[in-house]
Amino acid sequence: MSDDVDPGAAERVARRPAGPDESARASRLWWERAADEYQAEHGGFLRDAGFVWGPEGLDEADAGLLGPPDRLRGARVLEIGCGAAQCSRWLRVQGVAEVVGIDVSHRQLQHARRIDEETGVRVPAVEADAQRLPFADASFDAVCSAYGGFPFVPDAAAALAEAARVLRPGGRLVFSVSHPLRWCFPDDPTERGLTAEHSYFDRRAYVEEDAAGRAVYVEHHRTVGDWVRAIAAAGLVLRDLVEPEWPAGHDRVWGGWSPLRGRLLPGTAVFCADRP
Ligand SMILES: C[S@@+](CC[C@H](N)C(=O)[O-])C[C@H]1O[C@@H](n2cnc3c(N)ncnc32)[C@H](O)[C@@H]1O
Repeated sequence: MSDDVDPGAAERVARRPAGPDESARASRLWWERAADEYQAEHGGFLRDAGFVWGPEGLDEADAGLLGPPDRLRGARVLEIGCGAAQCSRWLRVQGVAEVVGIDVSHRQLQHARRIDEETGVRVPAVEADAQRLPFADASFDAVCSAYGGFPFVPDAAAALAEAARVLRPGGRLVFSVSHPLRWCFPDDPTERGLTAEHSYFDRRAYVEEDAAGRAVYVEHHRTVGDWVRAIAAAGLVLRDLVEPEWPAGHDRVWGGWSPLRGRLLPGTAVFCADRP
């Protein structure tokens, strides 16, 4: 690689296949670079010990998708793609007995450590890939993920099966992703983001490449039906699909999510599934 190539800097976009290792490596590269800015920009909205499922601000305190806090109190919970572990910390504050986070990005986990120290609410967090969880079978009562991991892996059914593996029978998985309908539209919070430009049925991955052609950001698209089939293939039973509405008075723009688009289009899909 020549000296003027900035490794990790996105130079172009491709729509092409990206395998499990390339996808995880791209996520790691991306978040090593993006974590500081992400936490500076969104940390206030996420709150150090807060659990929001996406840019609409759906709060687990109101939604209770993981189940009633009383039932979770003695539980062991895993958060996948935890970032700075804000959701995990909220669970700890609710009295959940044990919460563990995993994330592929070391820098995101350094932010988790920093907030642990600042708040005194500590969450053990491990650098790991959602596609290969370093935990024993049936070792968690619940697994959660707010936009962490699942949108960034090529084989959703395999990653969901991995989450199902570590869940005990009767345990619950809840995860949020960009709503699949968003795939059709430019990632733009303005009027331009209201005109469909891509096919909803185009499953090719969105890949940003650096000057050397290496993937530095990868996101995989699935339709709603693909997600439902992946959940079933993982041996889980889908209980709910929550599509949070944009709340009145919520003016915050987050990337392509805005009040303008939020009034017209779903932005987030939250899937709730149980291991039988
Ligand atoms: C949009 S952030 C969400 C983080 C956090 N849940 C939040 O709400 O701020 C996505 C996170 O997923 C992590 N991630 C991406 N691919 C992953 C993978 N294969 N395994 C584990 N974490 C992954 C990223 O490092 C990043 O921290």
